[in-house]
Amino acid sequence: MPDAEEKSSRLLDREIQSEDALSESIRPRVLDEYIGQETIKDNLRIFIEAAKSRREPLEHSIFYGPPGLGKTTLANVIANEMGVAIKVTSGPAIERPGDLAAILTNLQEGDIFFIDEIHRLNRAVEEVLYPALEDFELDIMIGKGPSARSLRLTLPKFTLIGATTRIGLLSAPLRDRFGILNKLEFYTEAELSRIIQRSARILNVQIDFDSALAIARRSRATPRIANRLIRRIRDWAQVKNAGQITPQIVDDCLQALTIDQLGLDKVDKKIILTIIEKFNGGPVGLDTLAAMISEDPLTMEDVYEPYLMQLGFIDRTQRGRICTPAAYEHFGKTLPAVPGVQNGLFQGVK
Ligand code: ADE
Repeated sequence: MPDAEEKSSRLLDREIQSEDALSESIRPRVLDEYIGQETIKDNLRIFIEAAKSRREPLEHSIFYGPPGLGKTTLANVIANEMGVAIKVTSGPAIERPGDLAAILTNLQEGDIFFIDEIHRLNRAVEEVLYPALEDFELDIMIGKGPSARSLRLTLPKFTLIGATTRIGLLSAPLRDRFGILNKLEFYTEAELSRIIQRSARILNVQIDFDSALAIARRSRATPRIANRLIRRIRDWAQVKNAGQITPQIVDDCLQALTIDQLGLDKVDKKIILTIIEKFNGGPVGLDTLAAMISEDPLTMEDVYEPYLMQLGFIDRTQRGRICTPAAYEHFGKTLPAVPGVQNGLFQGVK
């Protein structure tokens, strides 16, 4: 295998996690199978049809939003709908401009190049990416020192699809080079129920409407979590109830996994109870809070906080995180005696 090709395949073939390998079969392959995100789908249908009829690649696109909502799935769906290949990598995997050059020079006309966690690309790589996106030109340096020469290569016309949980961390010049920007939203209970029923059918397990809804309610509005829960509940049903999922089986399994009625787990509970019990409802800074519960601040911000904010349980203020009365109520805690004086809860401190 030539050097660049070998390097490109090393960078692209990311290790597939075992749960990912399983979920491959329950991932939708085309837009009609993809449930939810209706506005994004309606728009994509038009852009895809228009690009195909002009025989052009789709414009560079970016999907952003909390983890597990289907950004990678949508990129694969787009590749299928366009009838092109998709090459998958992630921001941190592309360490040097040469890594990027190896991938780009191995793309075919029309291919989709998918970069997950695109906000983690380093500056030097981003600089090489700009002309590639804008003019399909690649400037590479050959050699080192005084004999170094710059070489300009013309690339096949490709589509970059980026995914990020942090659109705010993207540099403005990179963000401006995407023609299609989409924010993925949390899913409704009805949408998640349909996803769960579809996954159950593919996994060959019986599920009734009420059980699907019970799982949906405890999936943090996130398909990846719904699909993980249904596999655990299937195990539970197989061992305890001859393979039949019932609302009781769902409840028993989720209780055993310490997932509460709203889908909150031990870490969520620890976050809320620490703010309430140790900081009198807040405000408390992210780093302090993360240290108190031994979690990584970035994981807290990306994975835990979005859903706690969606529930209206915490609020981000300039002085730190605060808990709302809804969080006190859910965890059976009494509001501070003089609300608002300690934590600014009712003063709208932002
Ligand atoms: N599996 C994961 N996400 C899905 C979605 N949005 N639609 C259908 N199946 C899914």
